[in-house]
Amino acid sequence: MAEQHLDTDLAWQLVLDAVNRSNVTLPLPGSQEPAIKLNGRGWQLLNDATRDARDLFELFLPLCRPVSEGAGPRVIGQLGQSLDGRIATVTGCSRFINGDDGITHLHRIRAVSDAVVVGAGTAVTDNPRLTVRRVAGRNPVRVVIDRRRRVPDSHHLFTDGQAPTLRLVAGDYHKGAGEIPVKGVLEIPCLGDADSNQPVDPRLILSVLNDFGLRKVFIEGGGVTVSGFLKAGLLDRLHVMVAPMIIGSGRPAFSLPEIDLLDDALRPRAKLVNLGTDMLFDLDFSD
Ligand SMILES: NC(=O)c1ccc[n+]([C@@H]2O[C@H](COP(=O)([O-])OP(=O)(O)OC[C@H]3O[C@@H](n4cnc5c(N)ncnc54)[C@H](OP(=O)(O)O)[C@@H]3O)[C@@H](O)[C@H]2O)c1
Repeated sequence: MAEQHLDTDLAWQLVLDAVNRSNVTLPLPGSQEPAIKLNGRGWQLLNDATRDARDLFELFLPLCRPVSEGAGPRVIGQLGQSLDGRIATVTGCSRFINGDDGITHLHRIRAVSDAVVVGAGTAVTDNPRLTVRRVAGRNPVRVVIDRRRRVPDSHHLFTDGQAPTLRLVAGDYHKGAGEIPVKGVLEIPCLGDADSNQPVDPRLILSVLNDFGLRKVFIEGGGVTVSGFLKAGLLDRLHVMVAPMIIGSGRPAFSLPEIDLLDDALRPRAKLVNLGTDMLFDLDFSD
């Protein structure tokens, strides 16, 4: 073991170095000294590291591995909820359920993803930027599911020029009908009938993103959108951040079909990580 101690900042730089790489030994940032060896689905630490740095590797290295063109996408969802499973008040106020560490965690997931996806409800209510501002890393392509174009054109996603935005709207999909703009907005008709009240199969959304080379997909919210991907069995991982707060009413994190027996409940492999301000459940639905 070398003497160098890997703290969270160094660990995060290594995570960014690991994006889309496998079977490689990465050196300590700014040095030739080997720090971490990536092999297939696993990794081996070659230096001493703090508990927080190890947690960071365990949470993020699985999200960094490359996804080849022929393979299906890798999809991670997140929900930031109160102890009573709410992601917002009844009026839609969700800022902020999670504390500082939870929000930093959210930005980290964005930084290792190709695309960050939100439903129209979140885009309308929160007017989010969906950029990486709290940590080093690049902005993902922003995607809003906005069948009826109800997100105001003046919202940040369409005006701030910080990152490309794909606006998925009603209409028939034609592959190859555009390219991701450098920082502007591309509207992609693909969500069928604007008057339909039925959700579009989320597989279709992933397939459109795949056509644009976006294979590491982060479903950031809200509850309706994340639940749609979960119900369709499309999430490989789900990060649920629980804040020590009881709202007592409000919008639910999960809405899934009713079940009678607990045998039918979802029971993913789970790892619990103390982020500081929030407790994170890292849920693994992959095989
Ligand atoms: N705490 C958190 O982690 C967190 C994260 C994000 C948002 N939020 C909060 O959550 C609230 C919004 O969440 P929400 O669950 O109400 O809504 P949402 O998931 O943000 O948006 C749902 C809407 O997106 C569109 N959509 C999503 N999936 C679709 C599909 N498969 N096919 C067609 N359209 C689809 C539909 O829009 P149309 O109805 O226009 O068809 C649907 O009604 C806000 O209050 C926000 O502040 C909290």
